[in-house]
Amino acid sequence: MRDFYPEDMRLRNHVFAAWRQASLQSGFSEYDACVVESLDLLKRKAGEEIVEQIYHFQDKSGRDLALRPEMTPTLARMIAARQGSLTFPLRWFTMAQCFRYERMTRGRKREHYQWNLDIIGEPTVAAEAEVIATAANAMHALGLDARHYRIHFSSRALLAELLSKLGITPEHHAATFLALDKRGKIADEELETLMRNEGIRADLIPAVFKLLEVRTIEEAHALLGERSAALAEIETFRDMLAAYGIAELAFFNIGVIRGLSYYTGIVFEAFDTDSSLRAIFGGGRYGKLLASIGGADIAGVGLGFGDVVIAELLADKGLASTDGMDPLDLIVGFMQPEQHMPAVKIAAAFRQQGKSVHLALAPEKPKTFFARSGGSGARQAIYLGPDDIENGIIRIKTLADRSQVEMPLCELLGPAPAA
Ligand code: HAM
Repeated sequence: MRDFYPEDMRLRNHVFAAWRQASLQSGFSEYDACVVESLDLLKRKAGEEIVEQIYHFQDKSGRDLALRPEMTPTLARMIAARQGSLTFPLRWFTMAQCFRYERMTRGRKREHYQWNLDIIGEPTVAAEAEVIATAANAMHALGLDARHYRIHFSSRALLAELLSKLGITPEHHAATFLALDKRGKIADEELETLMRNEGIRADLIPAVFKLLEVRTIEEAHALLGERSAALAEIETFRDMLAAYGIAELAFFNIGVIRGLSYYTGIVFEAFDTDSSLRAIFGGGRYGKLLASIGGADIAGVGLGFGDVVIAELLADKGLASTDGMDPLDLIVGFMQPEQHMPAVKIAAAFRQQGKSVHLALAPEKPKTFFARSGGSGARQAIYLGPDDIENGIIRIKTLADRSQVEMPLCELLGPAPAA
């Protein structure tokens, strides 16, 4: 679990600001919930890594609770609870802290913040395109574009049609997806065993692996031999991304399957172009999740975008440097205890005007004060000595060019101080 020192917070806030700005620009409304969820809601059929990674505990009354590993079940619960009064389609976003007992590798931690963008109740791929375009806007705000990352997309519905064509019946599709998602992470022989244990006919497994060699939507079309619903959908999706002006970011990749079992349609994952990092964000359409927890039969589409990989990518590209300091308008210091109260009044007056002011808490020598001012990030400085109070005039120094303006104290501390 991470500690965030001020310099870490500045970068985190920089990323959060890009997420929030992109969300609001696309008309998403923010929501939130408690990090503690009921374990029941989070647990699903085995096979998903995420279920094994849940931090769970019992409270004093014996309830099984957990720290959420992701936000989607909570979102589904919240929507289901109010589905009668909500207007669909709705667009919601959140920046949720999530916990997973994961093997710690580069880009994967036991705790992360995850920006979630979801559209609930839109049956067409307009929703998929909208969430991806919004994520691309956040990437752009962070200084990242087609030179830095790519979005790989596929469709579980299309893969399901291809599996059916091979003779694999729908009850085995979910297990096949989860097995295929592990390709590259574990050996093919192990995958084969996994699939056989799920009841998939051993003689069909080589053909399943061969499906992953499909390179284009057109090749998938040729294998299917007909224009299917899933095929039409993925083509429309591709055209929509072009209309958004982000076609150069997005690539069909049948190997993108995703490790969560609730996805039913388009799925996607973003990676850095050097492929040196884990997924930057990922998501897709979940057609039945709400119904599976007792809600209405409403489909959702969304993505999760973590703060860990993006911070690494920004650092790799030299884009992680926030200016190193919190923004500050003014620093105020004083020479002797006698000037302390006037300094307090001056700082209070400027703060009242809306300025951010760092006020010294003890007297200091001019040399110490001005050395400190230089490193404080403040734009201007006021240093009070006995003469200033006597003359009733303060000197406001602009630190960048050392220029100085004078201001009568009565003007500042009067009812309508000048800016
Ligand atoms: P996910 O692919 O498990 O999807 O996670 C989404 C993103 O969260 C990842 O791409 C990564 O940026 C970040 N992430 C996940 N686990 C970790 C970790 N251990 N450490 C650091 N970052 C991590 C979901 O969670 C889905 N619920 C997303 C979604 C929302 N689908 C629809 N709506």
